[in-house]
Amino acid sequence: MKVKINESCIGCGMCVTICPNVFKMSDEGVAIVSVENPTNFETEINEAKNSCPVQVIEVTE
Ligand code: F3S
Repeated sequence: MKVKINESCIGCGMCVTICPNVFKMSDEGVAIVSVENPTNFETEINEAKNSCPVQVIEVTE
């Protein structure tokens, strides 16, 4: 499982609130993925993905 955040993130912080084990805010104020293999957090990742207001979280197998 791979998680990517595309460059249109507006930094709302929702994904970090929902799944702090995987997402964190960068110094630039956008979300980044902080773990290499996030498979254990699939449920939270999908919740974050669905909650992102600009739908920029991409999850691939
Ligand atoms: Fe950015 Fe969406 Fe997270 S806007 S901070 S990727 S919820």
